[in-house]
Amino acid sequence: MSTHELTTSQAIRQRRSTKTFKNDPIPEAVLHELLSLMQDAPSSWNFQPTRVVMVRSMAQKEALAAAAWGQKQILEAPITFVFTVSIRGWETHMDDILKTGVSSGAWPQKFADWIRENAPGFQKGLGEKEREYAIKDAMIMATTLALAAQSKGYSSCYINGWDEAKVKETIGAEGDKNIAVALLLPIGLPNSEPKHPGRLSPAKTIFTDRLPSPAV
Ligand SMILES: Cc1cc2nc3c(=O)[nH]c(=O)nc-3n(C[C@H](O)[C@H](O)[C@H](O)COP(=O)(O)O)c2cc1C
Repeated sequence: MSTHELTTSQAIRQRRSTKTFKNDPIPEAVLHELLSLMQDAPSSWNFQPTRVVMVRSMAQKEALAAAAWGQKQILEAPITFVFTVSIRGWETHMDDILKTGVSSGAWPQKFADWIRENAPGFQKGLGEKEREYAIKDAMIMATTLALAAQSKGYSSCYINGWDEAKVKETIGAEGDKNIAVALLLPIGLPNSEPKHPGRLSPAKTIFTDRLPSPAV
């Protein structure tokens, strides 16, 4: 691996959903740096609901691939990251998070007190959307990891095609209603050079001030 890293723009441009991987391992130092970058992703209230499982053993890869309609990227890549969320994890971790925010100097005590006062009501007021809100955080973390990996020469493939109950069973969260699965993300060296499949014209997807009516 060269030590030359891509810029953010280059990583965004070069990332392609990669369907075949070499099984070369990700060196531990690179992995360590990727995990550190990934963990720097932001989250709503800084509540950090994302729980990531790195699937590395062949037995676990086989179970995970079976839960994902047999998608073979999962078997080939050295690591598939399973992004899940602990929907109510903030109830356990809020004190710690607020204390760290204050002691780091980032947050005045008053701001931390305001969060303690308001965040629980906001979260509970979300009702069923609390899951969706946590999944937004997980997707931001997954995207952070995909681009960080790309910047270091490692490819990825966002994967939505799986059965949630089977993925949860594979990672040891069977029947746990507090855990939701957001995404699978195999990462490794690419074994092919996928082409860019193109995008809709910006005139169809980017607007100023208001959406067109009707928006399609
Ligand atoms: C949330 C999400 C889920 C996806 N799920 C799958 C999947 O299950 N299997 C797969 O092969 N590709 C999957 N893709 C890849 C898309 O097909 C791909 O991103 C799209 O065709 C654009 O290609 P590009 O990523 O190379 O730019 C997914 C992409 C996203 C963003």
